[in-house]
Amino acid sequence: MASSDAAPVGAASRPIVLIGMMGSGKSTVGRRLAARLGRRFVDADRFLEERCGVAIATIFELEGEDGFRRRETAILDELSRLPGIVLATGGGAVTREENRRMLAERCVVVFLHASIPDLWQRLRRDRTRPLLQTDNPRERIAELLASREPLYREIADIIVVSARQPVDELVADIIEALPDECRAR
Ligand code: S3P
Repeated sequence: MASSDAAPVGAASRPIVLIGMMGSGKSTVGRRLAARLGRRFVDADRFLEERCGVAIATIFELEGEDGFRRRETAILDELSRLPGIVLATGGGAVTREENRRMLAERCVVVFLHASIPDLWQRLRRDRTRPLLQTDNPRERIAELLASREPLYREIADIIVVSARQPVDELVADIIEALPDECRAR
């Protein structure tokens, strides 16, 4: 975990970035966390959709996952430079090494860890996420979590379990774990 002693100059303005699986609550928690800290909230996927004028699913359809990942990297490069924001990323943001490097270098990284049953509970009726439109989406969630969990952990400064607790409780846990300078705004 980043300690205030080791914090680089300007650490108070480092973006706080939320990483974790789809369905782990990054957008909901991020919005509430930003409100509590008096920061601006940005959701990387919504930002990308506004920039492109189409839904993520359409980008997948037209350009495949590779095309989406290229666009995602460009957006993350832009957003991770914005001082003082809370940034929610897409679940696959950690799959590219260059993304992991820029998030780890520029941001305070918070990993929202959720269990497979909880993820499934939240995602079972989802029709918007291209990676889950398969015959066995539950198995897909398990596979994605297994391959990504080490990557989330690799760059996390803070890890919180996102289960069924109230959002405010989760946000309070994150705030308590943040380096002091992130709270002093
Ligand atoms: C993805 C997660 C989605 C979105 C895209 C790919 C993933 O974001 O970026 O569908 O690879 O896990 P959320 O985590 O916000 O659902």
